[in-house]
Amino acid sequence: MSDALRQVSIGSASLSVADCGRGPPLLLVHGFPLDHAMWRGQIAALAARMRVMAPDLRGFGGSSGVAPGAATTMEQFADDLAALLDAMGVAEPVVFCGLSMGGYIAWPFVRKHGARVRGLILCDTRAAADAPAAAAARLENARRVMEEGPGILAGAMLPKLFSAKTLETRPELVASVRATILAAQPAGVAAALRGMAQRPDATPWLPAIDCPTLVVVGAEDVLTPPDQMVAMAAGIPGARVAIVPEAGHMAPLERPDAVNAAIAEFLDGLPPLRGP
Ligand code: MLT
Repeated sequence: MSDALRQVSIGSASLSVADCGRGPPLLLVHGFPLDHAMWRGQIAALAARMRVMAPDLRGFGGSSGVAPGAATTMEQFADDLAALLDAMGVAEPVVFCGLSMGGYIAWPFVRKHGARVRGLILCDTRAAADAPAAAAARLENARRVMEEGPGILAGAMLPKLFSAKTLETRPELVASVRATILAAQPAGVAAALRGMAQRPDATPWLPAIDCPTLVVVGAEDVLTPPDQMVAMAAGIPGARVAIVPEAGHMAPLERPDAVNAAIAEFLDGLPPLRGP
């Protein structure tokens, strides 16, 4: 991958963004607590046909903008992405593709910046808010991350991110995600945990989504399982579902060819962008 990383100021933060290829824009929004590199299989393949932008969200990877003790809400992340598109001169609507936390960000992005969305790809995510116990656990994890570092998340998270086959046969892939978690910025991780804990239930918003939508889920995703994603997709008018065999929560990283094929079919079916 020729990962053309740029640093773009949006005023309250400086965001690092991989910006590759030319043509209609595709925005890839990473999951928690990762960075743009989780999309490497998509950037490599899709930059041949589109302009692919994969930012590090505020407080992740090479992006700044988090004060100690802050909460980064999903709405803040969505507003950051709109500001990023402005700063990068992207006026035409984008295909927004988010994984897990990236999907949580899609909901406020569509609500507040819907005119900027040409199509929506929701990977391994959910619309529901956290149950009270899950929200409380996030706040406790935020406290611990600030005291002990983001490594405290790795042990519990890693086995849940991948399919059995990935865990068994691709230790280098698992190790690369572990390394990303260990290198994450404590303040950014803690702020996102606080923000996720307070995110609203997006389920009532689903029927109002009026852009073409593709839902992608790993067949072995234990965090956002296929039955839950199929139910979520049923709430979005016209949404299509692709279930990816031998993949878990990190389907785009585990099975890039299968996920890219589903994305390419979806992109082929989109109405063409109108010229200026
Ligand atoms: C993610 O992959 O972004 C996380 O599983 C989201 C979450 O912690 O709910």
